Amino acid sequence: MSARAIRFHDERPAAATLRDEVLRGLAAQPKRIAPKFFYDERGSRLFDAICELPEYYPTRTEMAILRGCAPEIRQLAGPDCTLIELGSGASRKIRLLLDTLRPRRYLGIDISREFLLESAEQLARDYPWLEVHAACADFSMALDLPDVSGPGYRLVFFPGSTIGNFEPGEALAFLQRIRALLRPQGALLIGVDLKKDAQILHRAYNDSQGVTAAFNLNLLERLRTELHAELDPRGFRHQAFYNARAGRIEMHLVSQRAQEVRVCGQRFRFRAGESIHSENSYKYSVAEFHALARRAALQPVRVWIDPQRLFSVHYLGVAAASPAQLL
Ligand SMILES: C[S@@+](CC[C@H](N)C(=O)[O-])C[C@H]1O[C@@H](n2cnc3c(N)ncnc32)[C@H](O)[C@@H]1O
Repeated sequence: MSARAIRFHDERPAAATLRDEVLRGLAAQPKRIAPKFFYDERGSRLFDAICELPEYYPTRTEMAILRGCAPEIRQLAGPDCTLIELGSGASRKIRLLLDTLRPRRYLGIDISREFLLESAEQLARDYPWLEVHAACADFSMALDLPDVSGPGYRLVFFPGSTIGNFEPGEALAFLQRIRALLRPQGALLIGVDLKKDAQILHRAYNDSQGVTAAFNLNLLERLRTELHAELDPRGFRHQAFYNARAGRIEMHLVSQRAQEVRVCGQRFRFRAGESIHSENSYKYSVAEFHALARRAALQPVRVWIDPQRLFSVHYLGVAAASPAQLL
């Protein structure tokens, strides 16, 4: 069977979005830039390299869980569903489900356009029986998906603990929007990193080869190439630590000296040691995540956890919602 052409839906955020959000973030106190801006093509490749690192347990742990639970997911979702993956990246994890699940169609959504296209085209070549759609979009803005799915069961797949990048209040709003996508029939399959020993977390975000540092610093390269920012990336260093009180890993780009940076004609002063907060990665216990899901009117159906209790994969169905939960 020869591969079908993928159907591409281009809703890539305009360049002005990057500029406006970066200018707002650098003017804020403390300075911050959202982690979605890590992912230009180089950023996506660097993230892919992170997934291979010995210290970065989440990818291999989630993949092992998915390998084991694929038959149960098939029983829960049934055949012929529409599979929608948020933040699909290299579309690697989905391959662990496709042969067992045999969905009717697949829609991958990601902000990183070239990487998404390449991954979706490879997927279509490797699974010629599958109808493959790809949408370049920022899912933090709206979840107006291209209408590709028809009437059947919708399974939304949100791996990689990307939910952890949202503040808890934003995560709740995001889960509510996913619930609206599921309609009466559907489910969310979501990977969530668990709270654990801070040393394991520290090593995962401070790898010995410096790949995570390069990924974090790539944000500054993006500002240079796309916004013509006048800044010296060597004047900043990668920092990642576990903030136990907030239950999150924080990543920062720390200024090595007092310096000034110019972006789009605006000047931003940094004190030595002042940082740009570039990512949060919240960690949840199973009970905390179930409570969050229930507040979004999503019903925990099944949770799978690896033997070392590092990572969780949840299958959440649609619960009856009170009007307040649907807001
Ligand atoms: C942590 S990586 C996970 C990648 C892959 N799903 C995995 O599990 O290994 C986050 C992915 O979500 C995408 N992403 C991040 N923020 C996004 C946004 N606001 N809208 C669309 N895609 C986004 C990134 O480009 C990246 O591919």
